[in-house]
Amino acid sequence: MQIKNICCIGAGYVGGPTMAVIAYKCPDIQVNVVDLNEDRISRWNDKNLEKLPIFEPGLAEIVSKCRGKNLHFSNEVNQKISNSDMVFISVNTPTKKYGLGAGKASDLKWVEACARQVANNATGYTIVVEKSTLPVRTAEVIKSILEASKKDSKDSSAKTFDVLSNPEFLAEGTAINDLLNPDRVLIGGENSLSIDALSSIYSRWVVKEKILHTNIWSSELAKLTANAFLAQRISSINAIGALCEATGADVREVSRAIGSDSRIGPKFLDSGPGFGGSCFKKDILNLVYLCEYFGLDEVASFWESVVTLNNWHQTRISKLITKKLFGTISSKKIIILGFAFKGNTNDTRESAAIQICRDLINEGAYLFIHDPKVTKDQITKDLEVKPLDQNIEENSFNEKGSWKHITDINESLFDADAIVILTEWEEYKNLDWDLAESRMRKPAWVFDTRSIIDANSIKKYNFQFWRVGDGS
Ligand code: NAD
Ligand code: UGA
Repeated sequence: MQIKNICCIGAGYVGGPTMAVIAYKCPDIQVNVVDLNEDRISRWNDKNLEKLPIFEPGLAEIVSKCRGKNLHFSNEVNQKISNSDMVFISVNTPTKKYGLGAGKASDLKWVEACARQVANNATGYTIVVEKSTLPVRTAEVIKSILEASKKDSKDSSAKTFDVLSNPEFLAEGTAINDLLNPDRVLIGGENSLSIDALSSIYSRWVVKEKILHTNIWSSELAKLTANAFLAQRISSINAIGALCEATGADVREVSRAIGSDSRIGPKFLDSGPGFGGSCFKKDILNLVYLCEYFGLDEVASFWESVVTLNNWHQTRISKLITKKLFGTISSKKIIILGFAFKGNTNDTRESAAIQICRDLINEGAYLFIHDPKVTKDQITKDLEVKPLDQNIEENSFNEKGSWKHITDINESLFDADAIVILTEWEEYKNLDWDLAESRMRKPAWVFDTRSIIDANSIKKYNFQFWRVGDGS
Protein backbone atom coordinates (compact mmCIF):
# COMPACT_ATOMS: atom_id res chain seq x y z
CA MET A 1 0.00 0.00 0.00
CA GLN A 2 1.39 3.39 -1.01
CA ILE A 3 0.80 6.15 1.55
CA LYS A 4 0.11 9.50 -0.12
CA ASN A 5 -1.42 11.62 2.63
CA ILE A 6 -0.42 11.71 6.27
CA CYS A 7 -2.12 13.64 9.04
CA CYS A 8 -0.38 14.09 12.39
CA ILE A 9 -2.54 15.22 15.31
CA GLY A 10 -0.35 17.24 17.68
CA ALA A 11 2.17 19.84 16.52
CA GLY A 12 4.37 19.60 19.60
CA TYR A 13 7.95 18.58 20.33
CA VAL A 14 7.37 15.18 18.72
CA GLY A 15 4.74 15.83 16.03
CA GLY A 16 6.46 18.91 14.55
CA PRO A 17 10.04 17.61 14.12
CA THR A 18 9.00 14.02 13.26
CA MET A 19 6.65 15.12 10.50
CA ALA A 20 9.17 17.67 9.21
CA VAL A 21 11.68 14.85 8.76
CA ILE A 22 9.12 12.53 7.10
CA ALA A 23 8.16 15.33 4.69
CA TYR A 24 11.83 16.04 3.98
CA LYS A 25 12.60 12.39 3.22
CA CYS A 26 9.37 11.64 1.34
CA PRO A 27 8.68 14.47 -1.12
CA ASP A 28 5.88 12.42 -2.73
CA ILE A 29 3.86 12.31 0.52
CA GLN A 30 1.70 15.23 1.65
CA VAL A 31 2.15 15.70 5.39
CA ASN A 32 -0.39 17.72 7.37
CA VAL A 33 0.35 18.55 10.99
CA VAL A 34 -2.74 19.68 12.86
CA ASP A 35 -3.30 21.06 16.33
CA LEU A 36 -6.09 22.69 18.33
CA ASN A 37 -3.66 25.31 19.56
CA GLU A 38 -3.96 28.26 17.18
CA ASP A 39 -0.95 30.13 18.49
CA ARG A 40 1.28 27.09 18.05
CA ILE A 41 0.12 26.58 14.45
CA SER A 42 0.57 30.23 13.55
CA ARG A 43 4.12 30.04 14.90
CA TRP A 44 4.80 26.93 12.79
CA ASN A 45 3.63 28.99 9.81
CA ASP A 46 5.57 32.14 10.72
CA LYS A 47 7.83 33.40 7.93
CA ASN A 48 10.41 34.26 10.53
CA LEU A 49 11.90 30.85 11.32
CA GLU A 50 13.21 32.19 14.63
CA LYS A 51 9.59 32.15 15.79
CA LEU A 52 8.94 28.44 15.30
CA PRO A 53 7.40 27.17 18.55
CA ILE A 54 10.20 24.69 19.10
CA PHE A 55 13.91 25.27 19.03
CA GLU A 56 15.86 22.26 17.75
CA PRO A 57 19.18 22.43 15.91
CA GLY A 58 18.53 21.76 12.19
CA LEU A 59 14.71 22.00 12.45
CA ALA A 60 14.28 25.45 10.89
CA GLU A 61 16.31 24.44 7.82
CA ILE A 62 14.14 21.39 7.17
CA VAL A 63 10.91 23.32 7.75
CA SER A 64 12.02 26.02 5.34
CA LYS A 65 12.71 23.41 2.64
CA CYS A 66 9.37 21.57 2.93
CA ARG A 67 6.80 23.99 4.34
CA GLY A 68 4.16 24.93 1.76
CA LYS A 69 5.32 22.12 -0.54
CA ASN A 70 4.54 18.83 1.18
CA LEU A 71 4.56 19.98 4.83
CA HIS A 72 1.56 21.94 6.10
CA PHE A 73 0.52 23.15 9.53
CA SER A 74 -3.13 23.94 10.28
CA ASN A 75 -5.96 23.89 12.78
CA GLU A 76 -8.26 22.01 10.41
CA VAL A 77 -8.10 18.75 12.33
CA ASN A 78 -11.24 17.06 10.98
CA GLN A 79 -10.70 17.97 7.35
CA LYS A 80 -7.08 16.80 7.29
CA ILE A 81 -8.03 13.50 8.96
CA SER A 82 -10.63 12.83 6.29
CA ASN A 83 -8.07 13.23 3.49
CA SER A 84 -5.46 10.91 5.00
CA ASP A 85 -4.46 7.27 4.56
CA MET A 86 -2.41 7.37 7.74
CA VAL A 87 -3.05 9.36 10.95
CA PHE A 88 -0.39 9.75 13.63
CA ILE A 89 -1.57 10.51 17.16
CA SER A 90 1.15 12.63 18.71
CA VAL A 91 -0.64 14.44 21.49
CA ASN A 92 0.35 15.03 25.10
CA THR A 93 -0.11 12.24 27.66
CA PRO A 94 0.66 13.94 30.99
CA THR A 95 0.25 12.43 34.44
CA LYS A 96 -3.35 12.50 35.67
CA LYS A 97 -3.95 15.30 38.16
CA TYR A 98 -7.17 13.99 39.71
CA GLY A 99 -9.37 10.92 39.89
CA LEU A 100 -8.39 7.29 39.56
CA GLY A 101 -4.63 6.90 39.36
CA ALA A 102 -4.00 10.63 40.03
CA GLY A 103 -0.30 11.46 40.33
CA LYS A 104 0.81 8.33 38.48
CA ALA A 105 -1.39 7.14 35.61
CA SER A 106 -1.21 8.86 32.24
CA ASP A 107 -4.13 11.06 31.36
CA LEU A 108 -5.40 9.66 28.09
CA LYS A 109 -8.18 12.18 27.52
CA TRP A 110 -6.35 13.81 24.59
CA VAL A 111 -5.62 10.43 23.01
CA GLU A 112 -9.21 9.36 23.42
CA ALA A 113 -10.38 12.64 21.87
CA CYS A 114 -8.11 11.98 18.89
CA ALA A 115 -9.48 8.46 18.47
CA ARG A 116 -12.99 9.92 18.37
CA GLN A 117 -11.96 12.60 15.88
CA VAL A 118 -10.47 9.91 13.64
CA ALA A 119 -13.52 7.69 14.09
CA ASN A 120 -15.83 10.52 13.04
CA ASN A 121 -13.85 11.92 10.16
CA ALA A 122 -11.86 9.13 8.54
CA THR A 123 -12.94 7.84 5.17
CA GLY A 124 -12.00 4.50 3.62
CA TYR A 125 -9.12 2.46 5.03
CA THR A 126 -7.09 4.46 7.58
CA ILE A 127 -3.99 3.39 9.45
CA VAL A 128 -3.87 4.94 12.91
CA VAL A 129 -0.40 5.19 14.40
CA GLU A 130 0.24 5.70 18.12
CA LYS A 131 3.19 8.07 18.26
CA SER A 132 2.50 9.36 21.77
CA THR A 133 3.97 7.38 24.65
CA LEU A 134 1.12 5.28 26.01
CA PRO A 135 0.42 2.75 28.72
CA VAL A 136 0.58 -0.81 27.49
CA ARG A 137 -2.78 -1.90 26.00
CA THR A 138 -3.92 1.60 24.99
CA ALA A 139 -4.28 0.38 21.42
CA GLU A 140 -7.23 -1.65 22.71
CA VAL A 141 -9.01 1.57 23.74
CA ILE A 142 -8.31 3.23 20.40
CA LYS A 143 -9.46 0.14 18.51
CA SER A 144 -12.74 -0.10 20.38
CA ILE A 145 -13.56 3.57 19.71
CA LEU A 146 -12.77 3.10 16.02
CA GLU A 147 -14.72 -0.16 15.79
CA ALA A 148 -17.76 1.44 17.44
CA SER A 149 -17.74 4.18 14.82
CA LYS A 150 -17.85 1.56 12.08
CA LYS A 151 -21.00 0.11 13.60
CA ASP A 152 -22.56 3.60 13.81
CA SER A 153 -21.75 4.40 10.24
CA LYS A 154 -24.57 3.78 7.74
CA ASP A 155 -22.25 2.26 5.17
CA SER A 156 -20.13 -0.07 7.29
CA SER A 157 -17.93 -1.03 4.35
CA ALA A 158 -16.77 2.57 3.93
CA LYS A 159 -14.55 2.78 7.02
CA THR A 160 -11.85 0.36 8.10
CA PHE A 161 -8.96 0.85 10.48
CA ASP A 162 -5.68 -0.65 11.57
CA VAL A 163 -3.86 0.50 14.69
CA LEU A 164 -0.07 0.46 14.98
CA SER A 165 2.26 1.43 17.79
CA ASN A 166 5.28 3.42 16.63
CA PRO A 167 6.78 5.09 19.71
CA GLU A 168 9.26 7.91 19.30
CA PHE A 169 12.73 7.75 20.85
CA LEU A 170 14.07 11.19 19.90
CA ALA A 171 15.67 13.28 22.61
CA GLU A 172 15.20 17.04 22.66
CA GLY A 173 18.18 19.08 21.58
CA THR A 174 19.24 16.31 19.20
CA ALA A 175 15.80 15.55 17.75
CA ILE A 176 16.65 16.09 14.09
CA ASN A 177 19.79 14.00 14.22
CA ASP A 178 17.94 11.29 16.19
CA LEU A 179 15.17 11.23 13.57
CA LEU A 180 17.58 11.16 10.64
CA ASN A 181 19.84 8.53 12.23
CA PRO A 182 17.73 6.52 14.66
CA ASP A 183 19.19 3.59 16.61
CA ARG A 184 15.98 1.80 15.69
CA VAL A 185 12.44 2.39 14.54
CA LEU A 186 9.92 0.30 16.45
CA ILE A 187 6.65 -0.78 14.86
CA GLY A 188 4.16 -2.88 16.78
CA GLY A 189 1.12 -4.27 15.05
CA GLU A 190 -0.83 -7.25 13.84
CA ASN A 191 -1.58 -6.66 10.18
CA SER A 192 1.31 -6.95 7.74
CA LEU A 193 -0.34 -4.59 5.23
CA SER A 194 -0.28 -1.65 7.63
CA ILE A 195 3.10 -2.61 9.13
CA ASP A 196 4.63 -2.70 5.64
CA ALA A 197 3.04 0.63 4.72
CA LEU A 198 4.61 2.35 7.73
CA SER A 199 7.94 0.52 7.32
CA SER A 200 8.12 1.67 3.70
CA ILE A 201 8.05 5.30 4.86
CA TYR A 202 10.99 4.86 7.26
CA SER A 203 12.89 2.63 4.85
CA ARG A 204 13.48 5.68 2.62
CA TRP A 205 16.29 6.59 5.01
CA VAL A 206 16.59 3.90 7.71
CA VAL A 207 18.20 0.54 6.92
CA LYS A 208 15.91 -2.48 7.12
CA GLU A 209 17.80 -4.05 10.04
CA LYS A 210 16.98 -1.05 12.22
CA ILE A 211 13.22 -1.24 11.62
CA LEU A 212 12.03 -3.59 14.35
CA HIS A 213 8.66 -5.31 14.27
CA THR A 214 7.00 -6.57 17.46
CA ASN A 215 3.52 -7.24 18.67
CA ILE A 216 1.63 -4.10 19.63
CA TRP A 217 1.84 -4.58 23.43
CA SER A 218 5.61 -5.15 23.35
CA SER A 219 6.03 -1.97 21.35
CA GLU A 220 3.97 0.10 23.81
CA LEU A 221 5.80 -1.39 26.79
CA ALA A 222 9.26 -1.09 25.19
CA LYS A 223 8.88 2.69 25.04
CA LEU A 224 8.07 3.01 28.75
CA THR A 225 10.86 0.57 29.57
CA ALA A 226 13.46 2.45 27.51
CA ASN A 227 12.73 5.69 29.36
CA ALA A 228 12.70 3.91 32.73
CA PHE A 229 16.11 2.33 32.05
CA LEU A 230 17.63 5.64 30.91
CA ALA A 231 16.28 7.52 33.94
CA GLN A 232 17.40 4.72 36.24
CA ARG A 233 20.99 5.15 35.04
CA ILE A 234 20.87 8.85 35.86
CA SER A 235 19.47 8.26 39.35
CA SER A 236 22.10 5.58 39.87
CA ILE A 237 24.98 7.86 38.93
CA ASN A 238 23.54 10.78 40.91
CA ALA A 239 23.28 8.51 43.95
CA ILE A 240 26.91 7.46 43.52
CA GLY A 241 27.86 11.15 43.00
CA ALA A 242 26.54 11.98 46.47
CA LEU A 243 28.66 9.14 47.87
CA CYS A 244 31.69 10.43 45.94
CA GLU A 245 31.29 13.84 47.58
CA ALA A 246 31.23 12.17 50.99
CA THR A 247 34.20 9.89 50.41
CA GLY A 248 36.77 11.78 48.33
CA ALA A 249 35.98 9.97 45.07
CA ASP A 250 35.13 11.75 41.83
CA VAL A 251 31.97 10.72 39.97
CA ARG A 252 33.50 11.52 36.55
CA GLU A 253 36.27 9.04 37.26
CA VAL A 254 33.81 6.45 38.52
CA SER A 255 31.65 6.97 35.38
CA ARG A 256 34.66 6.55 33.12
CA ALA A 257 35.75 3.43 34.96
CA ILE A 258 32.37 1.71 34.88
CA GLY A 259 31.40 3.03 31.42
CA SER A 260 34.39 1.37 29.80
CA ASP A 261 32.91 -1.99 30.73
CA SER A 262 31.21 -2.83 27.43
CA ARG A 263 28.32 -4.42 29.32
CA ILE A 264 27.57 -1.08 31.02
CA GLY A 265 28.62 1.37 28.26
CA PRO A 266 29.54 5.06 28.62
CA LYS A 267 26.26 6.83 27.82
CA PHE A 268 23.83 8.33 30.33
CA LEU A 269 26.36 8.28 33.14
CA ASP A 270 26.75 12.06 33.57
CA SER A 271 25.84 13.18 37.04
CA GLY A 272 23.87 16.45 36.91
CA PRO A 273 21.23 18.41 38.81
CA GLY A 274 18.70 15.58 38.37
CA PHE A 275 16.86 14.52 35.26
CA GLY A 276 14.13 16.75 33.85
CA GLY A 277 12.11 16.78 30.67
CA SER A 278 8.48 16.08 30.03
CA CYS A 279 8.73 12.32 29.91
CA PHE A 280 11.07 10.47 32.29
CA LYS A 281 9.10 11.20 35.43
CA LYS A 282 5.68 10.80 33.88
CA ASP A 283 6.61 7.59 32.05
CA ILE A 284 8.13 5.97 35.15
CA LEU A 285 5.12 6.96 37.25
CA ASN A 286 2.93 5.45 34.58
CA LEU A 287 4.97 2.24 34.76
CA VAL A 288 4.60 2.29 38.54
CA TYR A 289 0.84 2.68 38.17
CA LEU A 290 0.65 -0.24 35.74
CA CYS A 291 2.67 -2.47 38.09
CA GLU A 292 0.43 -1.56 41.02
CA TYR A 293 -2.65 -2.18 38.89
CA PHE A 294 -1.39 -5.67 38.08
CA GLY A 295 -0.52 -6.35 41.75
CA LEU A 296 3.26 -6.17 41.27
CA ASP A 297 3.97 -3.98 44.28
CA GLU A 298 7.69 -4.78 44.60
CA VAL A 299 8.24 -4.00 40.92
CA ALA A 300 6.30 -0.75 41.38
CA SER A 301 8.38 0.37 44.34
CA PHE A 302 11.64 -0.53 42.53
CA TRP A 303 10.78 1.90 39.70
CA GLU A 304 9.28 4.52 41.98
CA SER A 305 12.60 4.80 43.81
CA VAL A 306 14.17 6.18 40.59
CA VAL A 307 11.86 9.21 40.83
CA THR A 308 12.21 9.51 44.61
CA LEU A 309 16.00 9.63 44.29
CA ASN A 310 15.73 12.31 41.59
CA ASN A 311 13.50 14.52 43.75
CA TRP A 312 15.85 14.09 46.70
CA HIS A 313 18.88 14.93 44.56
CA GLN A 314 17.41 18.26 43.34
CA THR A 315 16.62 19.29 46.92
CA ARG A 316 20.09 18.15 48.00
CA ILE A 317 21.64 20.63 45.58
CA SER A 318 19.63 23.63 46.76
CA LYS A 319 20.33 22.78 50.41
CA LEU A 320 24.01 22.37 49.66
CA ILE A 321 24.19 25.83 48.04
CA THR A 322 22.58 27.37 51.12
CA LYS A 323 24.94 25.53 53.48
CA LYS A 324 28.05 26.57 51.55
CA LEU A 325 26.95 30.22 51.65
CA PHE A 326 27.23 30.17 55.47
CA GLY A 327 23.79 28.64 56.00
CA THR A 328 21.84 31.66 54.80
CA ILE A 329 21.20 33.05 51.36
CA SER A 330 18.68 35.65 52.45
CA SER A 331 19.32 38.81 50.36
CA LYS A 332 22.26 37.18 48.60
CA LYS A 333 22.65 37.62 44.88
CA ILE A 334 22.93 34.38 42.95
CA ILE A 335 23.40 34.15 39.19
CA ILE A 336 21.59 31.14 37.71
CA LEU A 337 22.96 29.98 34.38
CA GLY A 338 20.48 27.85 32.48
CA PHE A 339 16.81 27.10 33.02
CA ALA A 340 16.05 24.56 30.25
CA PHE A 341 16.03 20.90 31.34
CA LYS A 342 19.07 20.26 29.13
CA GLY A 343 21.17 22.15 26.60
CA ASN A 344 20.01 22.99 23.05
CA THR A 345 16.31 23.16 23.86
CA ASN A 346 13.88 25.85 24.98
CA ASP A 347 11.85 23.25 26.88
CA THR A 348 11.64 23.68 30.66
CA ARG A 349 9.18 20.91 31.50
CA GLU A 350 10.25 19.24 34.77
CA SER A 351 13.58 21.06 34.57
CA ALA A 352 15.66 20.58 37.73
CA ALA A 353 16.13 24.38 37.61
CA ILE A 354 12.49 24.90 38.61
CA GLN A 355 12.74 23.10 41.96
CA ILE A 356 16.23 24.39 42.71
CA CYS A 357 15.30 28.03 41.94
CA ARG A 358 12.06 27.79 43.93
CA ASP A 359 13.99 26.45 46.94
CA LEU A 360 16.57 29.25 46.70
CA ILE A 361 13.87 31.93 46.40
CA ASN A 362 12.09 30.45 49.42
CA GLU A 363 15.37 30.79 51.33
CA GLY A 364 15.31 34.52 50.50
CA ALA A 365 17.86 34.68 47.67
CA TYR A 366 17.73 37.11 44.75
CA LEU A 367 18.21 35.08 41.61
CA PHE A 368 19.46 36.59 38.37
CA ILE A 369 18.36 33.98 35.84
CA HIS A 370 19.88 33.59 32.38
CA ASP A 371 19.05 31.15 29.61
CA PRO A 372 19.79 31.70 25.93
CA LYS A 373 16.49 30.17 24.76
CA VAL A 374 14.00 30.27 27.63
CA THR A 375 11.86 33.40 27.84
CA LYS A 376 11.09 35.47 30.92
CA ASP A 377 7.39 34.57 30.54
CA GLN A 378 8.16 30.87 30.59
CA ILE A 379 10.32 31.19 33.72
CA THR A 380 7.54 33.20 35.39
CA LYS A 381 5.02 30.44 34.64
CA ASP A 382 7.36 27.74 35.92
CA LEU A 383 8.39 29.48 39.13
CA GLU A 384 4.90 30.85 39.80
CA VAL A 385 6.61 33.98 41.14
CA LYS A 386 6.55 37.28 39.26
CA PRO A 387 9.99 38.64 38.35
CA LEU A 388 11.13 41.98 39.66
CA ASP A 389 10.90 44.86 37.25
CA GLN A 390 14.03 44.96 35.11
CA ASN A 391 14.65 48.62 35.98
CA ILE A 392 14.40 48.21 39.71
CA GLU A 393 17.58 48.93 41.62
CA GLU A 394 19.17 45.93 43.24
CA ASN A 395 19.18 47.53 46.68
CA SER A 396 15.41 47.90 46.52
CA PHE A 397 14.81 44.15 46.60
CA ASN A 398 12.52 43.44 49.51
CA GLU A 399 12.82 40.97 52.36
CA LYS A 400 11.50 37.95 50.51
CA GLY A 401 13.51 36.22 47.86
CA SER A 402 12.84 37.05 44.26
CA TRP A 403 14.24 36.82 40.76
CA LYS A 404 15.09 38.83 37.71
CA HIS A 405 15.60 37.76 34.09
CA ILE A 406 18.98 38.69 32.66
CA THR A 407 20.40 38.68 29.14
CA ASP A 408 23.89 40.00 29.89
CA ILE A 409 25.74 37.80 32.35
CA ASN A 410 28.77 40.10 32.67
CA GLU A 411 26.64 43.12 33.58
CA SER A 412 24.98 41.13 36.37
CA LEU A 413 28.15 39.98 38.08
CA PHE A 414 28.57 43.00 40.37
CA ASP A 415 28.46 41.90 44.02
CA ALA A 416 27.06 38.48 43.19
CA ASP A 417 27.77 35.84 45.84
CA ALA A 418 27.50 32.82 43.61
CA ILE A 419 27.14 31.51 40.08
CA VAL A 420 25.14 28.28 39.74
CA ILE A 421 25.30 26.44 36.40
CA LEU A 422 22.14 24.37 35.89
CA THR A 423 22.06 23.76 32.10
CA GLU A 424 25.01 22.73 29.97
CA TRP A 425 24.78 25.50 27.35
CA GLU A 426 27.98 25.74 25.30
CA GLU A 427 28.34 29.46 26.04
CA TYR A 428 28.70 28.78 29.78
CA LYS A 429 31.87 26.80 29.21
CA ASN A 430 33.94 29.90 28.56
CA LEU A 431 32.75 32.59 30.92
CA ASP A 432 34.97 35.59 31.52
CA TRP A 433 36.40 34.43 34.84
CA ASP A 434 38.76 37.42 35.15
CA LEU A 435 35.76 39.72 35.04
CA ALA A 436 33.70 37.49 37.34
CA GLU A 437 36.51 37.44 39.89
CA SER A 438 36.83 41.21 39.86
CA ARG A 439 33.10 41.92 40.10
CA MET A 440 31.74 39.30 42.50
CA ARG A 441 31.59 39.67 46.27
CA LYS A 442 34.13 37.53 48.17
CA PRO A 443 34.11 34.74 49.08
CA ALA A 444 32.54 34.09 45.69
CA TRP A 445 31.17 30.66 44.88
CA VAL A 446 30.84 28.79 41.59
CA PHE A 447 28.54 25.75 41.64
CA ASP A 448 28.79 23.60 38.55
CA THR A 449 26.01 20.99 38.51
CA ARG A 450 26.85 20.00 34.92
CA SER A 451 30.63 19.54 35.12
CA ILE A 452 31.20 21.86 32.18
CA ILE A 453 33.90 24.04 33.72
CA ASP A 454 37.49 22.96 33.53
CA ALA A 455 38.27 22.38 37.21
CA ASN A 456 42.00 23.03 36.77
CA SER A 457 41.66 26.37 35.01
CA ILE A 458 39.20 27.77 37.53
CA LYS A 459 41.62 26.99 40.36
CA LYS A 460 43.76 29.95 39.20
CA TYR A 461 41.03 32.32 40.35
CA ASN A 462 39.87 33.40 43.72
CA PHE A 463 36.68 31.33 43.78
CA GLN A 464 35.23 28.68 46.02
CA PHE A 465 34.40 25.94 43.55
CA TRP A 466 31.94 23.07 43.90
CA ARG A 467 30.96 20.60 41.24
CA VAL A 468 28.58 17.72 41.40
CA GLY A 469 30.01 14.42 42.62
CA ASP A 470 33.49 15.77 43.31
CA GLY A 471 34.83 14.77 46.69
CA SER A 472 38.46 15.06 45.70
P1 NAD B 1 3.38 18.61 23.34
O1 NAD B 1 2.58 18.99 24.52
O2 NAD B 1 4.56 19.42 22.94
O3 NAD B 1 2.42 18.56 22.04
C1 NAD B 1 1.18 17.94 22.01
C2 NAD B 1 0.24 18.79 21.16
O4 NAD B 1 -0.98 18.07 20.94
C3 NAD B 1 -0.17 20.12 21.78
O5 NAD B 1 0.24 21.18 20.92
C4 NAD B 1 -1.70 20.03 21.90
O6 NAD B 1 -2.36 21.26 21.64
C5 NAD B 1 -2.03 19.01 20.83
N1 NAD B 1 -3.32 18.34 21.02
C6 NAD B 1 -3.78 17.70 22.13
N2 NAD B 1 -4.99 17.16 21.89
C7 NAD B 1 -5.31 17.45 20.60
C8 NAD B 1 -6.40 17.14 19.77
N3 NAD B 1 -7.44 16.39 20.20
N4 NAD B 1 -6.43 17.60 18.50
C9 NAD B 1 -5.39 18.34 18.04
N5 NAD B 1 -4.30 18.65 18.78
C10 NAD B 1 -4.26 18.21 20.04
O7 NAD B 1 3.79 17.09 23.56
P2 NAD B 1 5.12 16.34 23.01
O8 NAD B 1 6.30 16.69 23.84
O9 NAD B 1 5.18 16.51 21.54
O10 NAD B 1 4.74 14.83 23.38
C11 NAD B 1 3.74 14.15 22.67
C12 NAD B 1 3.82 12.68 23.03
O11 NAD B 1 5.08 12.15 22.60
C13 NAD B 1 3.73 12.38 24.52
O12 NAD B 1 3.04 11.16 24.69
C14 NAD B 1 5.18 12.19 24.93
O13 NAD B 1 5.31 11.33 26.03
C15 NAD B 1 5.78 11.55 23.69
N6 NAD B 1 7.22 11.79 23.50
C16 NAD B 1 7.75 13.02 23.72
C17 NAD B 1 9.11 13.24 23.48
C18 NAD B 1 9.74 14.59 23.70
O14 NAD B 1 10.95 14.69 23.57
N7 NAD B 1 9.00 15.62 24.03
C19 NAD B 1 9.90 12.21 22.98
C20 NAD B 1 9.32 10.97 22.74
C21 NAD B 1 7.96 10.77 23.00
C1 UGA C 1 14.42 11.25 26.72
C2 UGA C 1 15.01 10.01 26.04
O1 UGA C 1 16.43 10.16 25.95
C3 UGA C 1 14.43 9.83 24.64
O2 UGA C 1 14.90 8.62 24.06
C4 UGA C 1 12.90 9.78 24.74
O3 UGA C 1 12.33 9.69 23.45
C5 UGA C 1 12.40 11.03 25.43
O4 UGA C 1 13.01 11.14 26.74
C6 UGA C 1 10.92 11.01 25.67
O5 UGA C 1 10.30 9.97 25.65
O6 UGA C 1 10.45 12.12 25.91
P1 UGA C 1 14.86 13.85 26.61
O7 UGA C 1 14.06 13.87 27.87
O8 UGA C 1 14.48 14.77 25.53
O9 UGA C 1 14.82 12.38 25.97
O10 UGA C 1 16.40 14.13 26.92
P2 UGA C 1 17.56 13.25 27.58
O11 UGA C 1 18.78 13.50 26.82
O12 UGA C 1 17.18 11.86 27.78
O13 UGA C 1 17.74 13.96 28.99
C7 UGA C 1 16.76 13.83 30.02
C8 UGA C 1 17.29 14.44 31.29
O14 UGA C 1 18.35 13.64 31.82
C9 UGA C 1 17.88 15.84 31.11
O15 UGA C 1 17.53 16.64 32.20
C10 UGA C 1 19.38 15.59 31.07
O16 UGA C 1 20.13 16.70 31.46
C11 UGA C 1 19.50 14.44 32.05
N1 UGA C 1 20.71 13.61 31.85
C12 UGA C 1 20.88 12.92 30.69
C13 UGA C 1 21.64 13.52 32.87
O17 UGA C 1 21.49 14.14 33.96
N2 UGA C 1 22.74 12.72 32.69
C14 UGA C 1 22.95 12.02 31.55
O18 UGA C 1 23.98 11.31 31.46
C15 UGA C 1 21.99 12.12 30.52
